[in-house]
Amino acid sequence: MSVDERDRGSTLEEGEVVLLLDRQGRRTLARLWPGRRLHTHRGSIALNEVLGRREGSAVRTSAGERMIVLRPRLIDYVVEMPRQTGLVYPKDAAFVLAWADVFPGARVVEAGLGSGALTLMLLRALGPRGALTCYEVRAEFVPHALANLERFFGQRPSLVVRERDIYDGIVETDLDRVILDLPEPWRVVAHAASALRAGGIFCAYNPSMAQVQHTVAALRAHRRFAAIETLEVLYRSWVVRDEVVRPEQQMVGHTGFLTVARRLDAEEPGGEDDGGDADDAE
Ligand SMILES: C[S@@+](CC[C@H](N)C(=O)[O-])C[C@H]1O[C@@H](n2cnc3c(N)ncnc32)[C@H](O)[C@@H]1O
Repeated sequence: MSVDERDRGSTLEEGEVVLLLDRQGRRTLARLWPGRRLHTHRGSIALNEVLGRREGSAVRTSAGERMIVLRPRLIDYVVEMPRQTGLVYPKDAAFVLAWADVFPGARVVEAGLGSGALTLMLLRALGPRGALTCYEVRAEFVPHALANLERFFGQRPSLVVRERDIYDGIVETDLDRVILDLPEPWRVVAHAASALRAGGIFCAYNPSMAQVQHTVAALRAHRRFAAIETLEVLYRSWVVRDEVVRPEQQMVGHTGFLTVARRLDAEEPGGEDDGGDADDAE
């Protein structure tokens, strides 16, 4: 049974990943294997104690500390899962889903697979009717990423992985979305223009403004894209406790930029000014 299909209110089962929260809200993820102990900074817990409980119940550590047990949200899981590459962090992945307008049932190509963080978010948003193909040039990354997906969903989710260089081309056609997290997205612009349907969306995530400049220049020069927009997501959590109401003192300074653009119809002659940049339309 996958995490998404699991009945609400069902008890925690062997093999599931659970999130343990201490009284200060510190998080530990654990896989529920009978007979194992989980060691935390607040004492250890016999995982047998957790099996069969409902989400939201509490267990005691060997040191007598109370810990709440929950199924992790996808974003809790993603930031804790093993990684072999940089990740698209939840704040940016959430914007990818919204700005690239990823909808249930969409046909999407993603590159690269990396550790599978963005792939997890995409699979969730696409649902069982969606079709996701991931290009990954480093074959050795694929088993690790697939293990991350399987651990979360409880089974291998439905997706196609192509161990190939997306700079050489996109096999799929009539795509709704092309979503990129790789070093030179401008080298995918022409392939994306051929693979996307009219109105489809190109979306690239990159940490450096130099990458953004090359990508936007390629989108403009190609003349098959409109509504080109680049944005950065700033996320600031707040402390709200009694009379203490203030932003957290620490904040992630920088992760990356998103660039999105819409594919013009093939019949359109295209032009640098067609459709304009997103802010021109306001
Ligand atoms: C930053 S990681 C992606 C991380 C991923 N989005 C995640 O959230 O876990 C970039 C990935 O792109 C892959 N990559 C780089 N160039 C590529 C190319 N031309 N075609 C396919 N994959 C590529 C790399 O091997 C690496 O796994």
